[in-house]
Amino acid sequence: MAAMTTLDINGKRVDVDVPADTPLLWTLRDELGMTGTKFGCGMALCGACTVHLDGAPIRSCVTPISAAVGKQVTTIEAVGATPVGRRVVAAWRALNVPQCGYCQSGQIMSACGLLARTPRPTDAQIDEAMAGNICRCGTYQRIRAAIKSAAGGA
Ligand code: FES
Ligand code: FES
Repeated sequence: MAAMTTLDINGKRVDVDVPADTPLLWTLRDELGMTGTKFGCGMALCGACTVHLDGAPIRSCVTPISAAVGKQVTTIEAVGATPVGRRVVAAWRALNVPQCGYCQSGQIMSACGLLARTPRPTDAQIDEAMAGNICRCGTYQRIRAAIKSAAGGA
């Protein structure tokens, strides 16, 4: 049964009238029209749906909105509002990272989460943080280069 739930999304209070077990991904996309966050697998296997919950990357396809209550949700639409997000987006543009682009929202959210907690990550730390984000266009080398470039500006 649906009931009103209040969420904090990109710094705004938002009321949604959906069941508490509705995945955050579908609440963002279908209820709020925020389509920057993508659906890939729906099973926490690809990373396309990655958003931040209190600054940490999570898979929104398997996160019910009940788990987001009282926390700050940040999506790709607002990630450029932080210094780390600005540097990451600038590096992504400068290095022409995306090909089809489908996975890239999730890639950027994971990269921002990494750099927020580890400003100068090693290759191993980059690999570990990005391992759950699949890119079927194979942009992994440019993703790694862009993360290093963004970290260099820290
Ligand atoms: S759609 Fe969420 S991890 Fe693939
Ligand atoms: S850019 Fe196409 S799936 Fe990653």
